[in-house]
Amino acid sequence: EYAPSGTPLVFAPIAPVDAEADEMSVPGGYTWSPIIRYGDPLFEDSTPFDPENTTAEALATQFGYNNDYTEILEVPGCDGRRAVMFNNHEYDNVALMVPPSTGERQSIEIQMAAHGLSAVDLERTKRGRPWTYVVGGERNRRFTFDTDFELVGPAAGAELLQTAADPSGITVKGTINNCAGRRTPWGTVLSGEENFHGYFAGGAQTEAQRRYGVGDGIRKWETVDPRFSTANVGFVNESNRYGWIVEVDPFDPDSTPRKHTAMGRFKHEGASTIIGEDGRAVAYMGDDQAFEYVYKFVSRDTYVDGDRAHNMALLNNGSLYVARFTGDSELVDAHGTLPEDGEFDGTGEWIQLTDGESSLVDGFTLEEALVNTRLAADAVGATKMDRPEDVEFSPITGKIYASLTKNGDREESGELGVDEVNPRAANRDGHVLEIIEAEGQAGATFTWNLLLVAGDPANEDYEVYFGGYPIDKVSPISCPDNLAFDSVGNLWVSTDGAPDGIGYNDGLFRVTLEGQDRGYTEQFLSVPRDAEVCGPNVYDEDGLVVVAVQHPGEDGEWGAQRSQFPYQEFSELLPRPAVVQTYRTGRGDDTPPRGPGH
Ligand code: FEO
Ligand code: CA
Ligand code: CA
Ligand code: CA
Repeated sequence: EYAPSGTPLVFAPIAPVDAEADEMSVPGGYTWSPIIRYGDPLFEDSTPFDPENTTAEALATQFGYNNDYTEILEVPGCDGRRAVMFNNHEYDNVALMVPPSTGERQSIEIQMAAHGLSAVDLERTKRGRPWTYVVGGERNRRFTFDTDFELVGPAAGAELLQTAADPSGITVKGTINNCAGRRTPWGTVLSGEENFHGYFAGGAQTEAQRRYGVGDGIRKWETVDPRFSTANVGFVNESNRYGWIVEVDPFDPDSTPRKHTAMGRFKHEGASTIIGEDGRAVAYMGDDQAFEYVYKFVSRDTYVDGDRAHNMALLNNGSLYVARFTGDSELVDAHGTLPEDGEFDGTGEWIQLTDGESSLVDGFTLEEALVNTRLAADAVGATKMDRPEDVEFSPITGKIYASLTKNGDREESGELGVDEVNPRAANRDGHVLEIIEAEGQAGATFTWNLLLVAGDPANEDYEVYFGGYPIDKVSPISCPDNLAFDSVGNLWVSTDGAPDGIGYNDGLFRVTLEGQDRGYTEQFLSVPRDAEVCGPNVYDEDGLVVVAVQHPGEDGEWGAQRSQFPYQEFSELLPRPAVVQTYRTGRGDDTPPRGPGH
């Protein structure tokens, strides 16, 4: 009765932690430890981590910076004792990674090497026990700007993707700013290239570059690699080669990662893929910027159980859709007060942009609609949302959940005014949207409602909504970002930005979705000063929760740390982003005090 929806993960919610506290907090009866940290060696011959003498060459053999998306794929036939873990390294922090005496070119090379992806083998004694990573594991791999990525799908080879260094328009060196992702039903992983625009200097050369914000980069990467200036002859299209969904097979360290042009190009948070009732693969995706859109991809071909090679090509061809939402009632006011009918809800449609053969948008070729997807979505009148982050489906109900993390700039009138699906003029704390497909997973219409309109219920100046659950019994929550589900279909929400909103550190929360406790929100953990929680993975039947702790102490600088996370080696010198596991300690500790809702 204590655990909502009968979830096997029993815990008493923690109290929120004040934003300036440098503290990792987990529930009573649980403990935590890092699985792997920034700088940890991946290979037998990796250079040992030495933060005062970091080099790009060393970093290319070590776990990269700012781990975000985290996926643990069990190796078949090992009874949960072996797995391969995949991670994104979204971005770097030069102020914390590089001693101030470092020269500019060397510093930029280190920044570049801090990016990319990692795969690393894990092992443990049995299911439910903590993981250890394997130095020199057979699947260990580090993806950097030296790694070839293959553009696949209808726009591969298009003129818009050709450069002086790659006239074929097929092969891209590296991947940038990979944020979230999700495993596919066929055992690969999808990773979203998000804020690629900020790496390119040289100014916006085209209308599309202006629309994506390309060209204002101040990182000076173009001084090391001419691809990173739009003004360099032969490289005006280089930025078109980033902003894709990347598919990686972590089980094959020799495989070529692919960038899927059929899924459109924008600031991809990630993609979550489900097999629909008719056998086609359906992927849900968010474009993470204020006033951007929610998308869906439907494959042309159908999933074949057991045929991995066939399934690995499913995302190469299909149809791309963008969402339009319509509310069913007037808002009482523009500050998140309940609508007239008591619920934020309505209907919506998936507007088709492409069908795999051609563009369905007037004035766009197929290649243009796929490369400059934002412009095509603008042309069909899609709904401008409050920063779509993760969009994930419940494996239990098939309902879709989207984090709208925040948006402070929505005006009260005109094209960008509030509506029932984005009800706040100044949305400091974000909201979580529930979408229910009306004609099956691949269909064109849906209904929707808001599960959470986030915030701190104790702040009476700021309206919140927790799915109808009594707001005096929930944990405060702000800025939803990554989403996951436990074995019984509860939603888990990790946050990014709560300190600037409700004044608490970011955390991981369980939200009950079904039954009388719908909307009941309980905080499971809290991360150190300045950090966000990414990549949640909940193994409730094992009593194990894995998260990526990204950018701890982000606002500090060399010699002036704001965090000593993970409170181990080198902690006095610099904080280290790390993937962390939280698990139960000992036995007989499984009956914590009853939570605030009961
Ligand atoms: Fe990288 Fe959308 O957060
Ligand atoms: Ca309504
Ligand atoms: Ca994110
Ligand atoms: Ca975020």
